[in-house]
Amino acid sequence: MKEQLPGGAQRKLEYLRISVTDRCNLRCAYCLPEEGLPLVPREEILTYEEIALVARAAARAGVRHVRLTGGEPLVRPDLVRLVEQLAAIPGLQDLSLTTNGVLLGPLAPQLAAAGLRRVNVSLDSLRPERFRAITRGGELALALAGLEAARRAGLEPVKVNVVVMRGVNDDEILDFAARARTDGWHVRFIELMPIGAAAGQAERWFIPNELLKTRVEAAYGPLEPVALEGAGPARTYRLPGGSGSIGFISPLSEHFCSSCNRLRLTAHGQLLPCLASPKGLELLPLLRRGASDDELVQMLQLAFALKGDGHHLGARSGGLLWPMSAVGG
Ligand code: 5AD
Ligand code: SF4
Repeated sequence: MKEQLPGGAQRKLEYLRISVTDRCNLRCAYCLPEEGLPLVPREEILTYEEIALVARAAARAGVRHVRLTGGEPLVRPDLVRLVEQLAAIPGLQDLSLTTNGVLLGPLAPQLAAAGLRRVNVSLDSLRPERFRAITRGGELALALAGLEAARRAGLEPVKVNVVVMRGVNDDEILDFAARARTDGWHVRFIELMPIGAAAGQAERWFIPNELLKTRVEAAYGPLEPVALEGAGPARTYRLPGGSGSIGFISPLSEHFCSSCNRLRLTAHGQLLPCLASPKGLELLPLLRRGASDDELVQMLQLAFALKGDGHHLGARSGGLLWPMSAVGG
């Protein structure tokens, strides 16, 4: 399906992000409060069969790429079974996963065998103590082992998502860049958005990507743009002499909303036009009364038509209170 944009350009629904759980095994300081959040009761979480029904309708509505997110998707039991169901849907060409990597090591080969194609690992520090502090207890060694296991299982290119925060981890960007050069990592620096626990901290922590790019170029020389599979809104560059890449995702300092081609499905069945949408369309009641495929396609089309051209989030805005763990990263 297509939507007319101002200026005559068209955007097409191509990409669906599915949150399979609102639970997470970490408590990143910018995402969740230390005590966690009230969780959706299990019976109100979409079953794998319900998720597959929505994904099948999405493929009919034009979606080519499905990404599984959370919370932390790997905390949901038997995720491999969902991956198998989604991989069998005709028309879906790309199936990927965003994870904090902690549980990925032992699961990577099974996920790959079930039809998963790629993973993104969220990793905000390469220093064990700091990683533990940012995630409130996470083990860096497990996340790194997960990342390596994914590469060995062929879930490539593995992308490493780094949310950069001033005074928290911005002194590590050259360490991450070094990994892109020597270890072939595909690193993406993400600007902190004022959502979740970051809503009140954004002014203190926000750092524009332009500044990071200047710092990387000061160390490595001019960055050369490169195309990378599934790069989405990232601007991606090769480092001189390196096999990996560095990307910048700048939701605040760049406005890519008007070309955004994605919808989000939350774990409890809300279809969100955007990460910053206050409200979505409720699919759970529809699914539980046995909605037809056509009805689901119509809901997807409606949600896509509700997409706006901007998110109105700013480092100085009050921000949004729900975190990625609720709406799916
Ligand atoms: N701003 C930017 N990125 C965020 N993420 C979680 N919360 C925020 C935020 N407030 C990131 C996670 C993960 C991705 C899914 O979103 O670290 O990399
Ligand atoms: Fe951290 Fe992602 Fe879990 Fe939030 S959902 S606490 S960002 S790992």
